[in-house]
Amino acid sequence: MKKPKDFIRSEVEKTPPSGIRKYFDMLHGMDDVISLGVGEPDFTTPWQIRESAIHALEKGRTHYTSNNGILQLREALSLMLHQKYNLNYDPKDQIIITVGASEAIDIAIRSIAGCGDEVIIPQPCFVAYKGCVNFTGAKAVPLQLSEDNCFKLTVDQLEKCITDKTKAIILAYPNNPTGAVMTKEELAPIADYLSKKDIMVISDEIYAELTYGMKHTSFAEFENMHDKVIYVNGFSKAYSMTGWRLGYVCAHRDIISQMIKIHQYAIMCAPSFVQYAAIDALKQCDGDVINMRNEYDARRRYIYNGLKNIGIDCFEPKGAFYVFPNIRKTGLTSEQFCDRLLMEHKVLVVPGTAFSDAGEGFFRATYASSLENIKEALKRIERFMKTLK
Ligand SMILES: Cc1ncc(COP(=O)(O)O)c(C=O)c1O
Repeated sequence: MKKPKDFIRSEVEKTPPSGIRKYFDMLHGMDDVISLGVGEPDFTTPWQIRESAIHALEKGRTHYTSNNGILQLREALSLMLHQKYNLNYDPKDQIIITVGASEAIDIAIRSIAGCGDEVIIPQPCFVAYKGCVNFTGAKAVPLQLSEDNCFKLTVDQLEKCITDKTKAIILAYPNNPTGAVMTKEELAPIADYLSKKDIMVISDEIYAELTYGMKHTSFAEFENMHDKVIYVNGFSKAYSMTGWRLGYVCAHRDIISQMIKIHQYAIMCAPSFVQYAAIDALKQCDGDVINMRNEYDARRRYIYNGLKNIGIDCFEPKGAFYVFPNIRKTGLTSEQFCDRLLMEHKVLVVPGTAFSDAGEGFFRATYASSLENIKEALKRIERFMKTLK
């Protein structure tokens, strides 16, 4: 007779769990640890949004919504996307409200990729992409980004990875874990090149609101690519709403009309009262987003300069809320560095290898943590670095 594990599909079994999990398990039973590990805002969701959810609950808005999400929210998103990023998505049939950007990424990949297809994933990258591609039976093709080029993607790199099986590429700027951004001028040649290929782009722009000193350019803005981009975003990062689980995906109506079936059968709809609160987030919370962004920016500069003063090489991040320092000089692997920093000096950061093999020699620290925590973490990191000399 078969054992329960014999029923598991090999694509699922072969996919390892997220490399970040081990570090949270190690935290158990440890006191006085400073965590720069979790990739989520440390701010509580702005009060207006919480109040709006409470009102929605009081009014009994506790039922299923339309599968695509409530029209009022889709209309507010369509307007915001047009005003901020010059994107044009029809609220009626080009937007699906999802359970976080995570679901949006999953249904985007599932709707276009399957056995025999290849999906290019520039790395280091967010932990979920490879797993989501593996689960469909498609092949995840790694594209190694280089620190020397500030972790930006080039046409040359892309050209080397494309085969006649390439179905899609996942683009993610501003980037987790590197904090890299790409400007309009830098993205334009990629758009030009891809516009002549039969390849879809899944553009994960969850950190669009968190750029420092420059305006975000959406990959969907390029006229020649608009119909070939599946645009992913969500409320987790900009509005500090990670636990609310709300995201959205926008695309050509021929894609959305198919993608909605996966969402319909797997999820039904995103939570109703959360969707109502999100309307107020979009309409009333621009000021909160700006305040949080300014605070991240101050912390970003502090941690970046602090690491450099300690003698750690660090590429200057211009987006999201992560630094991705290079620790090759220490002679330790990413994992050895992070294990020892946690066990000997009680600072939690994540090894670059959690974000693919391309992350070896780096660690990721988030500055979505108080300045006080960051200051103390830097002191401890300095002490640790002295023991390595
Ligand atoms: C690049 C990137 N995309 C998507 C997500 C998932 O976001 P959500 O909370 O909306 O599912 C994250 C979360 O860390 C992320 O870093």
